[in-house]
Amino acid sequence: MNLPYTAEMMESIKKVEAGRAARIGLEPRRMTADEKTALLEAFHPDYKMECFEEIKVGPNKGQKAPKELVEILQGQSRVIGQDIDLTNPDYDVDVLVIGGGGAGASAAIEANEAGANVMIVTKLRIGDANTMMAEGGIQAADKENDSPAQHYLDVMGGGHYANVPELVEKLVCDGPGAINWLDKLGVLFDKDENGRMITTHGGGTSRKRMHAAADYSGAEIMRVLRDEVYNRRIPVVDFTAAIEIIKDTEGKAAGAVLLNMETKEILVAKAKTVIIATGGAGRMHYQGFPTSNHYGATADGLVIAYRAGAALLYQDALQYHPTGVAFPSQIYGALVTEKVRSMGAMFVNKDGEVFMHPLETRDVAASGIIRECKERGKGVPTPVAEGIWLDTPMIDMIHGEGTLEKRLPGMLRMYLRCGIDMRKVPIVIYPTLHYQNGGIKVGVNGMSDVENLYVAGEAIGGIHGRNRLMGNSLLDIIVFGRNAGQQAAAKCKEVELKELTLSHVDDYTKMLKDAGVEPIVASPKLLPDYRPEGVKRLN
Ligand code: FUM
Repeated sequence: MNLPYTAEMMESIKKVEAGRAARIGLEPRRMTADEKTALLEAFHPDYKMECFEEIKVGPNKGQKAPKELVEILQGQSRVIGQDIDLTNPDYDVDVLVIGGGGAGASAAIEANEAGANVMIVTKLRIGDANTMMAEGGIQAADKENDSPAQHYLDVMGGGHYANVPELVEKLVCDGPGAINWLDKLGVLFDKDENGRMITTHGGGTSRKRMHAAADYSGAEIMRVLRDEVYNRRIPVVDFTAAIEIIKDTEGKAAGAVLLNMETKEILVAKAKTVIIATGGAGRMHYQGFPTSNHYGATADGLVIAYRAGAALLYQDALQYHPTGVAFPSQIYGALVTEKVRSMGAMFVNKDGEVFMHPLETRDVAASGIIRECKERGKGVPTPVAEGIWLDTPMIDMIHGEGTLEKRLPGMLRMYLRCGIDMRKVPIVIYPTLHYQNGGIKVGVNGMSDVENLYVAGEAIGGIHGRNRLMGNSLLDIIVFGRNAGQQAAAKCKEVELKELTLSHVDDYTKMLKDAGVEPIVASPKLLPDYRPEGVKRLN
């Protein structure tokens, strides 16, 4: 195999190899709390104030958010200028679920289970979602040496104690039940010869509680959830985006305006309760970072909920996964699962030095890598982007030959296609935009500030505080997806809708005008725009 590494990279690899045997069994020092704070403040992208802007209108007025997010929050509504007849809806359901990822599917399954007439709309296809891209696993405290209380402490610590405690309590207490639910539905978790789930550590975990399906855990979970949606005959309207929440004259959520992505037809869905499960924002490419996210991750739910009057929480806290691919270009920005480090691979700089513990929390690990490259000049230069080595051959040295192939088959295949055998040579990584820690503020029943508007999954803000730990996202889409579905189905029994209206959109547009804000983009964004700068954007 012709390795695509440059001569300079090969020289550096010699230094990585020279120290490898001595690294086996080594436990690099953990940073102190003060060291972590100083590192984050100096190098984490969330602290680059010039990349943030003040929100000028709405519930979070005066707070900061990434510039790109402010631009779409203050964008021009796509319903402006459209002739929309709200009196004659195209769909009329009990529960409308917006989004076809793991959270949306879990919500729909539970709403259906509760007897509600539920429908999913999704701007791409069901399963085109970050759930599908999740690799390393799903946390839950279901082993004898573990407990939800232990899990709670880890989640709070990882989130810098900014998490909403009630949401964390629900996450961890419902965790074991979520695994059981998935297991019964048919998810093929990794199990040992006695049928017990195999669990590993993730960054910031005090117990081994990461359940996985090799390194395609999210795809396996989505496979099963999608089948369950289809088996229950839950209607799924593909290639149809929600572009505004509809309210009734009492201010309750009452449906959504939909846009057929292919024909551009505008449709109206009336619903007694609405669940936003639109996922994350990686395709916003905050601060120019590449992303591990799927093509549709453009923060749409935040925009339509905000215009409807729902507050956001921690909209300025993003997660840059420490190990995105820095080289080669074909897979630039793609996720290298944290499980690679859980299984023993260490960070090594261009001089062959281990510069930090591989399983610090993600924000700390990402900042450490950025410092190593940008300040210390110890990054590995590649033809694409600078990064540092992740010494993957350590995995088979620690656990025995064949382990990497068995436990990380997706990773191995991804790199082999590019001519890199990660069992034999290290790989170059750098942080990639991975997760939206913040989102729409909800109560423990999943409802936002807008009556009957629920939220599930990555669109929620507050569960993970300012930094999420690995595997708690797959857990939260199941726990809070199921929760939203149950709550919305129960609530719709008592809902009597009044006349439907979009007057809140007019009010928001007026607020922008009064604040002197001139929208420069149409929003929600719906899909990333990779056209050259300067091409007309108000479309
Ligand atoms: O590294 C990973 O496999 C990612 C997992 C997660 O974000 O939870």
